[in-house]
Amino acid sequence: MTDHLESGHDKAAVAILGLGPMGRVLAEVYVDRGHPTTVWNRTAAKAGPLVARGARLAASVDEAVAAADVTIVCLNDYASTARVLRPVGEGLRGRTVVNLTSGTPSEARETAAWMGERGARYLDGAIMVPPPLVGEPGSVFLYSGPREVFDEHRATLTGVGDPRYLGTSAELAVLYNTGLLEMMYATMNGWLHATALIDAADLPVGDFAELAFGWFVPMMFGPSTAGLAAALAEGSYPGDLGTLEMNVNALEHITRTSVEQGVPAEQPRLMLEIAERAVAQGRGGENYLAVYEVFKKRAADAGHPASSMSR
Ligand SMILES: NC(=O)c1ccc[n+]([C@@H]2O[C@H](COP(=O)([O-])OP(=O)(O)OC[C@H]3O[C@@H](n4cnc5c(N)ncnc54)[C@H](OP(=O)(O)O)[C@@H]3O)[C@@H](O)[C@H]2O)c1
Repeated sequence: MTDHLESGHDKAAVAILGLGPMGRVLAEVYVDRGHPTTVWNRTAAKAGPLVARGARLAASVDEAVAAADVTIVCLNDYASTARVLRPVGEGLRGRTVVNLTSGTPSEARETAAWMGERGARYLDGAIMVPPPLVGEPGSVFLYSGPREVFDEHRATLTGVGDPRYLGTSAELAVLYNTGLLEMMYATMNGWLHATALIDAADLPVGDFAELAFGWFVPMMFGPSTAGLAAALAEGSYPGDLGTLEMNVNALEHITRTSVEQGVPAEQPRLMLEIAERAVAQGRGGENYLAVYEVFKKRAADAGHPASSMSR
């Protein structure tokens, strides 16, 4: 069974539930690429421009799900997902539902369970780009759930971005999404705080941005990422090219410079405290990656259910 045969068109019929900034652009891309596209939103009036573009507005969620080979959910949270889809009940049987709503692993797991009870074919997912990049080559979308459902609908999912399949456990997509977002926020905050330091000295922040990103990307990603990951896996952090003690000094300088410049110092102070915890564990002579040992889950917590996900 393929999307094509099921819908009777040369493109799969798609339903989009949720027309916030993200759902709207997903619908636009599917309409523009020739997919029969049905939309539903709690506030139906938001569908106007999409209908003018060629989408069909469903009068109910049941109608939207019934019209589509693939129903894509893009709501504010999993509570809304449940509120919107639980009443569909038997109408979900045999239908494919792809939930691109952000949430936590346990929310994804619970949603996959009740979707399964209703006989739905369920993929969980996460969108790793802002709305203007949807449909652009290389825009990363994460998916997890039954491999055969992903394979069957890969062509349709490729319409909005580069689909990355992570494994069978439904919660993998939101877990990886959370990890990547944490990386984004930490990096973004580092740049924003650094910019505040420069700005506090009345220096041009645009020039600083150019310098900062030109320096950061090759500095950070020059060493192979495989090498970095292997170091973490092995717990091997040789300090021959620079020690954690040296980095603690750098973090102290950033913290004291922030105070001197009148810029809030909580963020560098927190990084300093974390590095100092690694030093207190006896890792001062190792390199900065040894901070990973502070972040790692302790053996005493290892039985926590969230630790068991299959790929
Ligand atoms: N925007 C981004 O840059 C971005 C990037 C990546 C991922 N995402 C994810 O994409 C999802 C959608 O994001 P978004 O930017 O489109 O906006 P959003 O504000 O997170 O979600 C808006 C959608 O949720 C619906 N909604 C809110 N409360 C509801 C309720 N109680 N019952 C039913 N529907 C409800 C809204 O309906 P109404 O129109 O009726 O209010 C609208 O369709 C989120 O999970 C977000 O994390 C967004």
